[in-house]
Amino acid sequence: MCGIVGYIGDSNATDIIIDGLKRLEYRGYDSSGIALNIKDKGIQVRKKKGRIQNLEDLIAQENLYSNVGIGHTRWATHGEPSDANAHPHTDMSGKIAVVHNGIIENYLTLKEWLINEHGVVFKSETDTEVIAHLVGVFYDGDIEKAVGKAVEKMQGAYGIGVICADEPGKMVAVRKDSPLIVGLGQGCNFIASDIPALLKHVRQIYLIENNETVILTANDVKIYNADHKPVKRDVFNVTWDADAAEKEGYDHFMLKEIHEQPDGVRDTLVRRMDENGEIVLDGINMTKEEIESFNKVYIVACGTAYHAGLIGKFAIEKLANVSVEVDVASEFRYRDPFIDDKTLFIAISQSGETLDTLEALREAKAKGARVLSVVNVVGSSVARESDDVFYTWAGPEIAVASTKAYTTQLVCMYMIGLYMGRKKGTLSDELYKKYIDELLAVPEKIKEVLKQEKKIKKLAKKLYKREQVFFIGRGVDSAVSYEASLKLKEISYINSFAIAAGELKHGTIALIEQDTLVIALASQDRLFDKMLSNIQEVKARGAYVVGVAKENNTSIEQQAEDVIYIPECMDEVTPIVSVVPLQILAYYIAKQRGCDIDKPKNLAKSVTVE
Ligand code: G6P
Repeated sequence: MCGIVGYIGDSNATDIIIDGLKRLEYRGYDSSGIALNIKDKGIQVRKKKGRIQNLEDLIAQENLYSNVGIGHTRWATHGEPSDANAHPHTDMSGKIAVVHNGIIENYLTLKEWLINEHGVVFKSETDTEVIAHLVGVFYDGDIEKAVGKAVEKMQGAYGIGVICADEPGKMVAVRKDSPLIVGLGQGCNFIASDIPALLKHVRQIYLIENNETVILTANDVKIYNADHKPVKRDVFNVTWDADAAEKEGYDHFMLKEIHEQPDGVRDTLVRRMDENGEIVLDGINMTKEEIESFNKVYIVACGTAYHAGLIGKFAIEKLANVSVEVDVASEFRYRDPFIDDKTLFIAISQSGETLDTLEALREAKAKGARVLSVVNVVGSSVARESDDVFYTWAGPEIAVASTKAYTTQLVCMYMIGLYMGRKKGTLSDELYKKYIDELLAVPEKIKEVLKQEKKIKKLAKKLYKREQVFFIGRGVDSAVSYEASLKLKEISYINSFAIAAGELKHGTIALIEQDTLVIALASQDRLFDKMLSNIQEVKARGAYVVGVAKENNTSIEQQAEDVIYIPECMDEVTPIVSVVPLQILAYYIAKQRGCDIDKPKNLAKSVTVE
């Protein structure tokens, strides 16, 4: 997830690009840069780590006037956030500049080829620089052809924009699996990763499809398909305002991020698998012996990330055959936990900056533990201080209430379990394959759940006036209950409480009375009957029950007033699916209550104080 903007026309490209990048900052903000083709000076690149303001400060004293340029705001994947890793990247001649959104999966092979066959010297750690050099080595006077040849060699996802010093009146852009649009102006044209970047200037857009190449001049835009045949595209007229466009038409970032989960889950999974279905974790360098030497795993995190850890315990204990403890970071730090060099310490954090988690990590490291982190923000403090890092690749999460970071963290938990079990040899081929197949099917199952949005919205209208809610569940459902309950309380301010269903009778049931709302997660086939008994217990005290169950377990309708169904899936992986309807329910309840959903009161996205 990065943002790209390009301009070709008769105005000053710098101002237009900087303004466009600012509107895309929500897509990534660890560094930014701009490349301009300046008369008599050729390609000029300026880039800077940090927010776009830093780039603006850098170029404030310069007179960088050009009618063509490309810009980028980065969300790091390969290579930490730094000036050198910021885009645009250039080839060896410095005459070709490239911005890129996406991931080049075969970049290491291409990098080796460029170094060995063409003596290329790399200046950054990014996958993107490979594209610039590829275009450079293929360039013989025709930028369009050179980009075409480069693209033939590239595997992965990309939306790219390319300019060349020797062809100042032209810009080339290509798209595969990363967003790319073209804005149609009067005597000028634009490229961008997203509509908000261009709304100040144009409302007429071409939506570029996969494997299409676009050639732009100030007065013309040509689109070609993969066979180099011209494509006719209808103009898309944008009617949204800028604010709605940032949210891609959704009312809130939270809802947008809920809908991004099928892609986030798929990316986290598929990009870590080779063609034989084997898990390849490039940020984790543990030998079989090291994995075998761990006699305990600690998972430590805060908030939603802690709830992902609760599922991690189930997954890693089962798959890797090792005992796992889960703790909230603020408690872990002060209880002198038993840790030594036989401990694997896993920190989970979306931001990678949560102070409690960071301090817990330091404590574990000082005691000799091997530290593996599961982090969304590349180059964050938690990532930098860990021995191994597994990035969630959920893309920037803007809403304070975490959704897509959580589901991608869950995927990481299963993958770590599978990876460890596979290396140790404790996992049969059959079970491994079963998990992989089930996980690969999850994105489609989430999509099925998303189709029920209207129905869940209706349910929210029925429930939103409640001031107290109990979530109950067994097994992995109990862990999902904690997360579902947190989601509801943080954005709707309803007093919500989660408890393992079997534990209810040991005290909390005293609070159940006529019409108390109980949301009962009953997604586990093997515990379904037990859950029905727990539901009966609360029903006997007058509770109003909303059940969550797999679609074949319709007998829950005899007990629950309302039921949300999720598609059939293996018990163990249900959390990635079953949390989704409850995120949607929390969202619509909060919306009905008129709450500030993306920025709930008293909360912050990243808590860097103790
Ligand atoms: C804050 C946020 C939560 C988040 C927690 C941990 O409390 O409001 O949504 O789950 O921090 O954040 P992290 O970035 O470490 O995952």
